Amino acid sequence: MDKVEQLNRRLEEMNLVGYWGIPRTEVFEPVCSFAPNIWRWKDVSDALREAGEILPPGQSFRRFIAFKSPGKARTTHTVALGLQLVKPGEIAEAHRHTMGAIRFVLEGGGAQTTVEGEPFPMERGDLITTPNWTWHDHFNGSDRPVIWLDGTDRPLLDLLEIGFGELFSERQQMITKPVDSAIYELAPVRAGRLSSARVQSPPYRYRWKDTERALKILGEKAGDPFDGLLLRYVNPLTGGFTLPTFSCEIQMLRPKEETRLHRHTSSAIYHVFEGRGFTVIEEQRFEWEKGDTLTVPLWRWHRHGNNSGEPAILFAMNDRPVMESLGFYREEATEWR
Ligand SMILES: [Fe+2]
Ligand SMILES: [Fe+2]
Repeated sequence: MDKVEQLNRRLEEMNLVGYWGIPRTEVFEPVCSFAPNIWRWKDVSDALREAGEILPPGQSFRRFIAFKSPGKARTTHTVALGLQLVKPGEIAEAHRHTMGAIRFVLEGGGAQTTVEGEPFPMERGDLITTPNWTWHDHFNGSDRPVIWLDGTDRPLLDLLEIGFGELFSERQQMITKPVDSAIYELAPVRAGRLSSARVQSPPYRYRWKDTERALKILGEKAGDPFDGLLLRYVNPLTGGFTLPTFSCEIQMLRPKEETRLHRHTSSAIYHVFEGRGFTVIEEQRFEWEKGDTLTVPLWRWHRHGNNSGEPAILFAMNDRPVMESLGFYREEATEWR
């Protein structure tokens, strides 16, 4: 054993490391730890329905199937998405955690999420936020099963080791506010005393009827060259991102619309809410249709297209707020498709 090797061993025993053993790299760029992937609606929804039949009662809170990138534990390195099935009459007990979460309703209606005492009805296409440390519980008071997409910043919080969670004293919260309180409290006509200085976003319900109308009216105009018509679900108080840790967006590709290639340091999860189309991620082409979910890793060239005669609507979740707020957001564009 030569002297350098002896020194390396001694350092190892003292929990130290000499950098001379690490290959030198001065020129580098991000290499994403997960590959792009697509999950088909039929596979995921069949499995969820099967879980609904075979899991014993009392497991309803965990009747959740998460998308995990091949070989990984989570959907992306920063955000996680999955599907929750809640049967008629079931309650998910009140709790809170440092994870910021969203629900985007796919099937069924008539369920309710209560956040900080405010009831948020859940209809197809509604997006409901439960920001960091807000009490929340769910109840399906309808006579149909409800399926929603459930997204969180759990992978990022695991990295930061900042997980706190606790149960509420009762199974459900007391309702202390009327329906749509947040919508009117935070409307353009609102009390002057509201401060926008806080980091956390307010709990909010973005009603599908409003989003759909916005897509219809704004869809008459030219879209973004890289994203088609892209609308962000913004913090109603500040106009900033949905939550400090991730952004939710709704994206419409008009019939025959194709976007240009670009890449950026945020990574995204897309869920096809309506229609069909395709996404090209470097050498791979993914054809998608209603209900499919796919991931676009950071810093990969990608573009989207709708080769059908109907509009395609994608729900998206990405970690751009984290990249922007820390000064790591970069984007590169091309002129071509
Ligand atoms: Fe939760
Ligand atoms: Fe993009």
